Order: sequence, then C-alpha cells, then structure tokens
Amino acid sequence: MDAWDANSDDLVRHAAGRPIRVVTAAIRNRALLRDLLGRDGYRGVLSFTLAEAIWLAGTGISDDALVAYPSADRRAISRLTSDEHLAGRVTLMVDDIAHLDLVDAVAPPEARAELRVCLDLDSSWQALRGRWRLGYRRSPLRAVDDVTRLARAVMSRPGFRLVGLMAYNSQPAVDLWRTRHGRIRRALARRVLRRSMGRLAERQAAVVEAVRAITDLEFVNAGGTASMAATAQHSWVTEVSAGSALLGPASTDDLTDVQPRPAAFFAAPVVRRPGPGVVTVAGGGYVASGTAGAHQLPLPWLPEGLRLSRDEGAGQTQTPLLGGATADSLAIGDLVWFRHVKAGEMAERFDNYHLVRGERLVDTTPTYRGDGKAFL
Ligand SMILES: Cc1ncc(COP(=O)(O)O)c(C=O)c1O
Repeated sequence: MDAWDANSDDLVRHAAGRPIRVVTAAIRNRALLRDLLGRDGYRGVLSFTLAEAIWLAGTGISDDALVAYPSADRRAISRLTSDEHLAGRVTLMVDDIAHLDLVDAVAPPEARAELRVCLDLDSSWQALRGRWRLGYRRSPLRAVDDVTRLARAVMSRPGFRLVGLMAYNSQPAVDLWRTRHGRIRRALARRVLRRSMGRLAERQAAVVEAVRAITDLEFVNAGGTASMAATAQHSWVTEVSAGSALLGPASTDDLTDVQPRPAAFFAAPVVRRPGPGVVTVAGGGYVASGTAGAHQLPLPWLPEGLRLSRDEGAGQTQTPLLGGATADSLAIGDLVWFRHVKAGEMAERFDNYHLVRGERLVDTTPTYRGDGKAFL
C-alpha cells in the first residue's frame, strides 16, 4: 500500500490537473477502486465490460462508468435499457452504426431509457494502408469525416445521447517495447513513435474540434499509463485514463515517462527440492494475455536470484525455479514472491488481495473473482 500510495500520487502529478478515470481492468478489486475514487485527482471508471460497469454503478462504486469497448452482451444491454438510474450512470462505447442497431434490436428507443454514448477514435499510427501499424487495432474511426458522420448518426437517432469522445494512445503500450523485440527494431519503432505522436495529436485535435462544432461534449478522454504524460498536455483532453501504473506489474517496467513501483505480488510455496540449485513451487503458471512468449510469464521477484527454466516456464500445477545458492537456501514451505505481467489478470487467479502497509497486514479484500464475478 505504500507503493500504491506513491504510484497514485505520481499519476496525479503526471495528469497535470486532468481528472484520472480509473482503468478497472488493471485493478479488479472494489476496495482498491473505492480507495482511489476517494482520492483527489480521480473521477469515474473506465470499465472493461458493460456487465461490469452495471455492477460497479449498481453497487455504488462509481456513478460515472464509461465502458471502454463496444458491447454485444444482449442481456447486459437489456438490463441497462430497463433502468433509468443505471442509464444515467453508464456510457456505452460505439464506433459503428451496427452498435446502435444492436441496442435498438434489444430494446427499441420508444421503450427504453436514453443511453449515453461515447465514440472511440482510432489513435494508432499506420502506413502502407494499414499494413504497418503501431498501436492497437480497434476503432475504424480515423479521419475527421468518419467521426463526424457517426456523431451525426448518433445525434439523429432517438434514444441515444452523444456525450463523449475517447482517443486512447496505445502506441507506447504495445508489446513491441518489451525487451524481447531486439534493440534495432525497438530503436526504429521509437523514431516512428516520436514522429507519429505529433501528427496523431494534430489529427485528434482536428477531430475533437469538428465534433465539438456540431454538439456539446461532456468529456474527451485520452491516455493510458504509457502515454499519460504526453496526452495530459493537450488542451483538448478533459480527462485521462490509467490503471496499470497503480499496481506496477512487470509490463510497466520498461516505461520511460511514468515509472510505477511494483505494488502487487503473489506468493507460491516451495513444495519440492529436485536437486542442487533448484526448487519447485506450487502453481505459478499465471501467463499474461497478448503476444505469446517468455515475456508474458510471471517474474520471480523475491528472494532475488531465482529464474524460470527455459524448458518449463511457469507450470499449470508446479513451477521449477533455478537459482544456485538462493534456491539451495530455501526450505519446503518457504514462500517465493512473483510479479504478474498484468496486474488485473493476477486478480483473476486469487480470491483476495491482502493489503500490507509497512510490515502490517491492514486488510484482506475480495478481488472480482472473490466476489464471484467473471466478466471476461
Ligand atoms: C481505452 C483504454 N484506455 C486506457 C488504457 C490504459 O490502461 P493502463 O493504464 O492500464 O495501461 C486501456 C488499456 O487497455 C484502454 O483500453
């Protein structure tokens, strides 16, 4: 919790006065979300599914839940459309007319609450007609015309209200930056990144201006841990989003602007000693999503000096750890501490986060899994 406090203070500094919307996928624990939303500088959540947003709004965690991705969850849409209270607190993400059609097919506009809508602007860098890209493959909305066309469509449809724009700068967040990719490729990509961020900002500013010319927007969201320091400087950004920076998982170790402290760990007990210089712990095979490879495996953290074996990686039921004298110093029952590559995904493996301040256990709080919730 000491690292958590320091990380959350750092983020507020990087946000340069913009309120931070909390990326819940990177937290997945309601007590921690409550903690953050009670702090100065934090406002609202960026949810990863509509069902989650409804749960967070319905249980009083936040009265401002923006769903980061379009939803095709008919049951959740039906729940949202039948509840005025929820409909005022949850905002849907849209980048295609088909998203509006799907909502109308579940509940026609005359028979439901008005729904809040945000448009997602693609913020990747592309060359050769999209064959080369830096940044996530998400929304088809790139040019000013793409966005204003859909904005007008939303405005002309009964039962929808356009309230926001989101432009997530994912270029600095892609796996390419992780050390696996070799220095030359990363150096080239870094040049592209530097040059493209300026052009991207121009395109984003033009889109925001064009949409603001046809309607009032409550918010324009940008950010992500990796790009926050840069995006928070733009005048058209009214709020930034971040999540990973709070728990500082291994995926944030290579970042340059925001440099979170590691704050989340899991422990696995030593259950075997197969021979000199090696111990085996129970479990451990908690692999992160994304491009597959050794860079997505959990990182043995303490005691220092242990490493995964190349042959076995992190196992489904057991994980061998190599480490000479360090391994030999461990007895059966001792704990080895790891860091997950993605903090939020770690929460899917354990029922609780134990909150430790200094040397003291101050609370034990359920993760989403502990709350019996599996949203994806
Ligand atoms: C829309 C959006 N904004 C921001 C983020 C950044 O999250 P984080 O701060 O955890 O990197 C994400 C993560 O995928 C996202 O999808």
